Amino acid sequence: MDTHFPGRDRLIRAFDAAVTAGDTASTMRALRSTLCDAIHSGDVRLPDEVFEGRPDHYARRELYRSPEHGYAVVAMTWGPGQGTPIHDHSGMWCVESVWHGALEVVQYELCEQAGERYRFVPAGVTQAGAGSAGSLIPPHEHHTICNASDHDIAVSVHIYQDRMTSCSVFEPEHGDWYVRQPRVLQLDDAPAAAH
Ligand SMILES: [Fe+2]
Repeated sequence: MDTHFPGRDRLIRAFDAAVTAGDTASTMRALRSTLCDAIHSGDVRLPDEVFEGRPDHYARRELYRSPEHGYAVVAMTWGPGQGTPIHDHSGMWCVESVWHGALEVVQYELCEQAGERYRFVPAGVTQAGAGSAGSLIPPHEHHTICNASDHDIAVSVHIYQDRMTSCSVFEPEHGDWYVRQPRVLQLDDAPAAAH
């Protein structure tokens, strides 16, 4: 999918430069600053559809996939109270930015594993506001995301190393223990274009 919107071409050029920046840490740094600059400058206008939530789930809309580098740009729309269980990123790096509203991100540290049972402990809560960005590099890839607002939507833009079509989610068992479940990730209709 390749959706056109104002500021898109410059953004993609900056992403392309970032993913060829060298090591993963340099790529993460460059992607984070590209996203933060784009949000603060106001030069990029995401398609209107991205600001429309879905009543029963947070929406995932792919804005771009790089034919050359393989990375994927996905916009997510979080209605009030919508969020994720603890999940992984299928071993891929990811940069996540808050474009609009605010998100609560809880990082988890994997402490123990026994078959499909995993023990996680929370390792920090971030209240991420619009214009902020963070990155995940495996194996430190477990977290939850939630729009804690009871009235505002939140929009985030994620860049994944590759298209992520499935991941693992971790359902609470008891105490700090969770059971791994595979999850297929769906995309909502991609926006056709910005008006
Ligand atoms: Fe995530």
